[in-house]
Amino acid sequence: MYHLLKGKRGIIFGALDENSIAWKTAERVHEEGGTFVLTNAPASIRLGNITELAQKTNSQIIPADATLVTDLENLVEQATAILGGKIDFVLHSIGMSVNVRKGNHYTNQDYDYTEKGWNVSALSFHKVLQVLYKKQAMNEWGSIIALSYMAAQRVFPDYNDMADNKAYLESVARSFGYFFGRDYNVRVNTISQSPTATRAGQGVKGFEEFIAFSEKMAPLGNATALDCANYTVAMFSDLTRKVTLQNLYHDGGFSNMGVSQQVMEMFE
Ligand SMILES: NC(=O)c1ccc[n+]([C@@H]2O[C@H](COP(=O)([O-])OP(=O)(O)OC[C@H]3O[C@@H](n4cnc5c(N)ncnc54)[C@H](O)[C@@H]3O)[C@@H](O)[C@H]2O)c1
Repeated sequence: MYHLLKGKRGIIFGALDENSIAWKTAERVHEEGGTFVLTNAPASIRLGNITELAQKTNSQIIPADATLVTDLENLVEQATAILGGKIDFVLHSIGMSVNVRKGNHYTNQDYDYTEKGWNVSALSFHKVLQVLYKKQAMNEWGSIIALSYMAAQRVFPDYNDMADNKAYLESVARSFGYFFGRDYNVRVNTISQSPTATRAGQGVKGFEEFIAFSEKMAPLGNATALDCANYTVAMFSDLTRKVTLQNLYHDGGFSNMGVSQQVMEMFE
């Protein structure tokens, strides 16, 4: 514990259950002295056990569907009132593909599902940023993070339409990050995380096998949800003030590997 976030206030989206990356992040932010409001879609609040996390971290839950601007406006208003001031950090940890859920192949998408997944997984980040920006709700030197995956740059066939959603999400971080930096000295970045065993991750076909492959490829092994939480804490802290408009790989080195000895041995 380093008290890196002492006195800082934030909003954490996307804690569903104890496996969620946002759950681990909330626990670590709490340990580092930050205070925050937890939020999730109303249906996810009923489905998961976020109230347990709220009790543990002394925080309140404000339900919000991240695709609805009115919900986000209410969330930001309530969060600043509850926390007693402007916001220093925001975690967007939201992803869902209806095509993946329904088992539709990338080459056979139902475009209503595609749009819904894009709205939840990618456009929602623009909506969150726009609401914060218009309300001037961020403190100077604040930090906003969204979670991404390397399928935005490289082909992972079973990641399906989420690959396109992540490419859009990363682009929004850069484009909106410019205005946030210029006007408010606020950082906007994405963290491109290793495959992680969570509810969202497990929806992807062949996910267990892929985690095992990735573990053998990455020189440091896969980054866990707790590792991701620690990195996010660093990105929320004052130690990373000049990092913005970046997609930050947090994957044990996987993204720069061609092949590893361990993987080669499987073919020998
Ligand atoms: N698990 C992985 O392998 C992995 C790897 C890289 C990046 N990510 C990303 O990390 C983020 C968090 O996912 P996770 O792996 O912790 O899984 P998770 O299932 O625990 O979290 C996804 C969250 O999105 C929320 N959500 C869905 N629809 C919403 C809506 N309309 N409004 C508000 N919230 C909504 C869910 O309720 C859930 O809490 C996602 O962006 C995911 O794509 C995950």
